[in-house]
Amino acid sequence: MSLRQRPRRLRTSPAMRSMVAETSVEPRRLVLPVFVAEGLSEPRPISSMPGVVQHTLDTLRKTAVEAAQAGLAGVMLFGIPEHKDARGSGAVDEHGILTEAVRAVHEEVGDDCLVMTDVCLDEFTDHGHCGVLTPSGRVDNDATVEIYAEMAGLHADAGAHVVAPSGMMDGQVGAIRDALEAAGHQETAILAYAAKYTSAFYGPFREAVASSLTGDRKTYQQDGANLREALHEVALDLAEGADIVMVKPALAYLDVIRAVREAVDVPVAAYNISGEYAMVEAAAANGWIDRDRAVAETLTSIRRAGADVVLTYWALEWARRWGTGR
Ligand code: PBG
Repeated sequence: MSLRQRPRRLRTSPAMRSMVAETSVEPRRLVLPVFVAEGLSEPRPISSMPGVVQHTLDTLRKTAVEAAQAGLAGVMLFGIPEHKDARGSGAVDEHGILTEAVRAVHEEVGDDCLVMTDVCLDEFTDHGHCGVLTPSGRVDNDATVEIYAEMAGLHADAGAHVVAPSGMMDGQVGAIRDALEAAGHQETAILAYAAKYTSAFYGPFREAVASSLTGDRKTYQQDGANLREALHEVALDLAEGADIVMVKPALAYLDVIRAVREAVDVPVAAYNISGEYAMVEAAAANGWIDRDRAVAETLTSIRRAGADVVLTYWALEWARRWGTGR
């Protein structure tokens, strides 16, 4: 054949492929989600997330230092209190597990690594919902938002650089922004879980935070059938004062990441969630897929879809492999 164009020429060697690669997953783009549980004497494994643990405050400190040394953007903290109640009181206790975790991590890493917090009540409530309930058992939007605002203020006081409301309550970003401004925390960024879908892929997370949720979150998280609704949620969160908007989950919603990327000019984040992690780990443990290649392909796809920032349980491992040619 006499062909002028042979696309294979650009695939001939690792150096060639690497030169023309359009997408890369730099550690500076990655955030490591970490769980810290109150009252633990040693880290507790999470069986549905092999390699991920509930940390003690001590092992959390070490992990945060490792994250900073590996060049990650930051850590996203999730607190698991020893005692849960209907109002999620542990969330607004200034000596609660999450607030203490923020202090501990901030003390270790200062401004070298961003301290981020998940602002939500589901880790703290005994019923497992992301907010407080009305007498008839509905999630009470406005009462919940007030609690989120108080939580975010506590996290900022403790040294959080970024607060990330994830409960999908209406008006949560605006209320948090007002509370931060009123408390002199003008520099605290809000990473809004703006387009967050109800998903089966959160399954392992329920174990990770010892959730006792029965039922679902369909009255507050989005329906997977909808794309335009995601753009509406994103627009509202930006109008309310969000700095970064996030799409979650990532893999079943890559089209949403792309659409949000094209609709806004602020940084877009995506959360490669627990069930997405577990799927790859489980298949790899069975010898059904090549784990390292699957991890690389997963993270690349999320970046290629348009995410500037990726939250992933593989962040630390990935950053350590970075630059070694993998
Ligand atoms: C809410 C929250 C959840 C996750 C992050 N923040 C659970 C949910 O909304 O049901 C899930 C993260 C994951 O599955 O990895 N606090």
